Amino acid sequence: MATISITDQNRTLDDAQEITEFLAPFGIWYEKWDVAARIGEDATNDEILEAFQPEIERLKQAGGFKTADVINVTPETPGLDEMLAKFDKEHTHDEDEVRFTVQGRGLFHIHPDGGPVFSITVETGDLINVPAGTLHWFNLCENRTIRCIRLFEDMSGWTPHYVDQGVHEKFSPVCWGPDYLPPAENLDPVVEV
Ligand SMILES: [Fe+2]
Repeated sequence: MATISITDQNRTLDDAQEITEFLAPFGIWYEKWDVAARIGEDATNDEILEAFQPEIERLKQAGGFKTADVINVTPETPGLDEMLAKFDKEHTHDEDEVRFTVQGRGLFHIHPDGGPVFSITVETGDLINVPAGTLHWFNLCENRTIRCIRLFEDMSGWTPHYVDQGVHEKFSPVCWGPDYLPPAENLDPVVEV
């Protein structure tokens, strides 16, 4: 289950209905798809795409997406730090960033126009989109592992456009959920990702 944290309001949401309603005004969809009932833990990329074909087709029809793939990130992924450094600074894309998390966890921060920054911690079964043009950044959680279905209209539309206003530097990349530990006053609250 995803968790939303609105740091400036000292507020967290972890109920699916509340999350869906909170995200809707920002143009962000939240859906929960059952994973354990659909694929085994060792499913191949092709098996994942086949298992979720109905959902993928529905999103393609609704959002004009053309292709889907599966990305696998682990601590052993070559060039992982360089890859993460592309996503952990505030940026936008020309098309929606659609991610269905099959395994692992990740942390999106969203910086909406005129609204406070909030984070979405995603884990197995969570589908979200970051709408085109919406400022955001991404961090991995503590185990640096995530496996996602991605949808694209055109791969070139996913090139990040960075903004240089330093907002991402004000927010700790702390993932919420089962492993979350509240920052102690005398400890550095930043968890390395
Ligand atoms: Fe992005």
